Amino acid sequence: MTTPLKDKHIILGVTGSIACYKAADLASKLTQAGALVDVILSESATRFIAPITFQSVTGRRAYVDADLWSGEGHVVHIGLGQAADLFVVAPITANTMAKLAHGEADTLLTVSALAADCPLLIAPAMDGGMFQHPATQANLETLKQRGAVVVGPAAGHLASGLKALGRMVEPFEILGHIRHLLAQDGPLTGRKVVVSAGGTQEALDPVRFIGNHSSGKQGFAIAQAALDLGAEVILVTAPVSLETPIGAARVDVTSAREMLDAVRAATDDADVLVMAAAVADFRPAQTAEQKIKKEKGVPSVELARNPDILLEVAKHKQKNGFPKVTVGFAAESENLRANAQAKLAKKNLDLIVANDISAQDAGFAVDTNRVVLLSAAGNQEELPLMSKAEVAAAVMLRVLQLLGDHHE
Ligand code: CTP
Repeated sequence: MTTPLKDKHIILGVTGSIACYKAADLASKLTQAGALVDVILSESATRFIAPITFQSVTGRRAYVDADLWSGEGHVVHIGLGQAADLFVVAPITANTMAKLAHGEADTLLTVSALAADCPLLIAPAMDGGMFQHPATQANLETLKQRGAVVVGPAAGHLASGLKALGRMVEPFEILGHIRHLLAQDGPLTGRKVVVSAGGTQEALDPVRFIGNHSSGKQGFAIAQAALDLGAEVILVTAPVSLETPIGAARVDVTSAREMLDAVRAATDDADVLVMAAAVADFRPAQTAEQKIKKEKGVPSVELARNPDILLEVAKHKQKNGFPKVTVGFAAESENLRANAQAKLAKKNLDLIVANDISAQDAGFAVDTNRVVLLSAAGNQEELPLMSKAEVAAAVMLRVLQLLGDHHE
């Protein structure tokens, strides 16, 4: 699967902090995502971690200050900076932040940063007092004003024993920010994509609800795929235990009616709606205010119909044309294509992603999916068993084509 990191040249500057050990994990994650990672260690970083650790995970040379004075030194410092798509310093110490803010160029890392004309992303790590110091805050402000993306620091336990703001944020989160940054200027840049995810919960009483098996994985993967193409993403989600893709604006909802309100508000001017959520069609007609007690006998629950969100959106679309492209999902246990086709027509969709929930390797909770894409134009495309991330990328690619066909 390709991500915005594929074949991108990233310089990873590493400076002297105990968080250096996490930088090795970051270098590994970036490499696994397809990036070409050139690591530059500061002198003090080499006291914490060896260049060979980075060379082992990136498969590329890791540079140290001695390289600035080697035979090819004059080429190295300019060459590295100029070839880079992104310059990352993680962890960045108060000292290196001060140097970058003032344009100092006395080490291979700082001279390369000055020579580079790509975006800069920094992940500070230092003791709480050092981070709060007005000098550090002023340097941070200077770097931000010059366009640097600052990730963290996070609050938590610091090496000094202090619990304060100063921890480098975790590598997976830095990776998310890098992914988001590198996805700018994609084919969906300037487009607003609304994605719904998860299974709605319909309250019976303050502790119980009627729910379903949706894990939210496919919807979250759709949100990530849209971000990867540069879109502005609003992720309306029912309760799930998943990390929000970095860059998505998350709106948490619980019931179908809350999801309807959130989706309607977000799609008023949206280009795309992808309804990946498993919306409960029915809710308890009454929600008990107090916990239902068993002493009172076995209750019978009367159900009421929930709104159909896609139908409501379709009505609105007929009036004002938004969202321009609507995508639905059809989870079916029989007659997959016929049922999906009927939903496509009834809900006035541009595309429907149909999956057979009776298959073991597809549907709820698992990481893979096997889907058929049916379009309003009559195209049917059966995709092989794929990861949910790959299905998401394939769906967003079709959405891109549909937006292209949509005459503005
Ligand atoms: N959907 C919706 N509002 C609902 C129910 C479903 O917007 N109240 C959306 C889902 O998010 C999905 C599509 O409609 O994109 C199809 O959902 P599905 O549950 O397969 O179909 P239903 O219309 O609910 O029909 P049925 O459950 O009878 O198969």
